[in-house]
Parts: sequence; structure tokens; C-alpha cells
Amino acid sequence: MKQPLIDPFQRAITYLRVSVTDRCDFRCVYCMSENMTFLPKKDLLTLEELDRMCTSFIGLGVEKLRITGGEPLVRRGIMTFFNAMSRHLESGALKELTLTTNGSQLEKYADDLYAAGVRRINVSLDTLDDDKFAEITRWGRLPQVMRGIDAAQRAGMRVKINAVALAGFNEVELFTMQAWCADRDVDLTFIEVMPMGDIGNEDRIMQYWSLKDLRARLEDRFTVTDLAERTGGPARYIRLEETGQKIGLITPMSHNFCESCNRVRITCTGEIYTCLGQEGHSDLRAPLRASDDDAQLETAIRAAIGLKPKGHDFDYSRQTVDGQVSRHMSHTGG
Ligand code: GTP
Ligand code: 5AD
Ligand code: SF4
Repeated sequence: MKQPLIDPFQRAITYLRVSVTDRCDFRCVYCMSENMTFLPKKDLLTLEELDRMCTSFIGLGVEKLRITGGEPLVRRGIMTFFNAMSRHLESGALKELTLTTNGSQLEKYADDLYAAGVRRINVSLDTLDDDKFAEITRWGRLPQVMRGIDAAQRAGMRVKINAVALAGFNEVELFTMQAWCADRDVDLTFIEVMPMGDIGNEDRIMQYWSLKDLRARLEDRFTVTDLAERTGGPARYIRLEETGQKIGLITPMSHNFCESCNRVRITCTGEIYTCLGQEGHSDLRAPLRASDDDAQLETAIRAAIGLKPKGHDFDYSRQTVDGQVSRHMSHTGG
């Protein structure tokens, strides 16, 4: 057994998030600007290189692998990669293989994902209103995503909705979304919007909606109990006693959860970001390509983990309109 990955703050790194593409078929206003320039294909890790990268991390103790983008399901040949990763589930080295998706391609891929061993899937969905959905995603259409969610449930996967909490946008839908998820037996998690990337959108600070306030609104209507359980991600969970439903709250802004951080991120070009909310990163593509022997890659991985910072320092009181971290969320997949 190799030595596990431990960062300078004694946190064990057991969760890897891998972005397989920077492209997306939507343009969510808080995530991308309308005219994004995407990377040339030659800069992307090939599917074989992604496999080697993930396999090295799994060999170093990563137990949970989440595939992200951009939109991961728009990457050509993506099922080849999922199918390859399923061998690590079968060997028991990997405990969970999953993805975060906008849902647009789920109708097509749900059965294949289940067959590859995916049992839980996070779908980004900020509104249940057709017009508002078209507004926030710029290019997305809600019925297509709804068909995807249906297909994922039919295939046997547990679906979790990730909704970015936005004042003046989905604030009014809090109870509609809560009731819809209870009715559909879908989990629901809200996320506080983070100041990442210059999105040409002056409204971001105005749109920040603290989940402390969201919770208080739930408490006006329901008996809310804090749950101790965690899923290995940053969400803390509450239960609404009247419906029995579990709701996740991800609060990078109002309640920083960095001290229990267990994850790092790989971009589609093979950079490693050891913190979502910091600019610091290292290149793993060069050591990956330098030799077929994984020793150099593993050394580079350990060196990068040795630089993992304590946490982010996002702060809306700074009142800057541009991202406090300049890269877009789509670069590292959330
Ligand atoms: P599960 O708990 O396994 O369902 O997943 P997760 O919450 O780790 O993954 P998901 O993709 O659903 O993450 C939801 C969002 O939480 C991400 O898109 C980010 O916006 C945010 N998030 C996840 N990890 C971090 C983190 O380490 N730091 C910060 N600041 N935000 C994070
Ligand atoms: N702040 C918080 N969450 C964001 N996401 C995208 N941009 C932001 C942001 N600035 C979310 C998406 C999706 C996940 C990948 O990240 O809605 O759920
Ligand atoms: Fe695409 Fe997700 Fe970004 Fe929306 S949030 S533009 S769906 S990557």
C-alpha cells in the first residue's frame, strides 16, 4: 500500500474531481460569459491520459471520483472513459464513481452510466420555470433536462438537484422546488454563489443569497433538524420533519467548510487545483507525458498536494464585480 495523500494541514485527500472538458452546451450566467473562448482540442488530456491520471490518484488512496466539466457528457467518447473507470469500482479501490451534469444529455446516457456503476448523479438546476431556465442558462431548454432526470431515475440512479441560490431569481421558488423534489423523490442541495470568473454580469453581488436566510425561511414553515451525516462533499444536511425530506446546504460564503476539505481538482488540460477558491495550481500533464512509468506523475501529485492552501478567502464585502478568482467555474467544474 502506498503512502496516502495528506496535505500540509493533515487533511487526507480521498476525493478527486476531474473536468473532462471546458465546453458546455449551456451558458449559465453566473458561470460563463456569452462569448467564451474554449481550449483547442490538442491541449486536452486524451481519454487514455485521463484514465492514467485517475488510476494514479486511485492508487494513492482516492476513493471517490466525480467527473465534471464544463458539461462532462458533451465530451466525445465519454462513455469509454466511464466504462474504463468501472474496473476500479469492481476491484473495490473506488467506492463511488459519479458526475455533476446539466442534464441535457442524460436521456441519451442514463442507462449506460448506470451500467458503468454510477449510482448517484448531481444535476444542476436552478429553476423549475421554463422561461427562467432559458434566461439563466442562456442556451438551455428545461423539458430536455426534465426528460434526462426521468431517464436517470428510471435507470436506477439517485438524483440530486444542485441549485445555486440567487436572490431575486429563484428566491421565490424555494417552496416550489422543495415540494417538487419531495414529490419526485429527488434530493435537493442549495449552493451559495461564489465570485469566480469575470462573467460580464454586474448583478452577482446583488444576487448573493445567504443560505442562513434560506434556512430561516424554511424554518418559518417546517421543523428543521440538523443531520450529522455527510456524503464526502461540502454539503451539510437538514431534514424537514413534516416531509421527511433531506436538504443540503453548501455555504462557502457564510460558513466556510475548508477545514474538512478532502478534495482536489484536475482540469481537462491536466492542471491540478488544490483549492477551488485559489489561483494556485500545478501542471501534471508534463510529468504524465514525460514517461510511461507513473513514478514521475506520482511525485508531481505529491508535490502539488504539499502546496494545498488552508482554504479560500472569498469575501463579498470587498464589493468587486469581477471574480475574486479570475478563472471561470467551468474551468474546474465546481
Ligand atoms: P456530493 O456531496 O457527493 O453529492 O457532491 P459534492 O457536493 O461534492 O459535489 P457537487 O458537484 O454537487 O458540488 C456542488 C458544488 O459545491 C460545486 O459545484 C461547488 O460549487 C461547491 N463545492 C464543491 N466542493 C467545494 C469546495 O471544495 N470548495 C468550495 N468553495 N465549494 C465547493
Ligand atoms: N458559484 C456557485 N456555484 C456555481 N456553479 C457554477 N458557477 C457557480 C458559482 N459562481 C455550480 C453550478 C453547478 C456546479 C458545477 O457549480 O450550478 O451545480
Ligand atoms: Fe454549463 Fe454548468 Fe457552467 Fe451552466 S454551470 S454553463 S451547465 S458548466
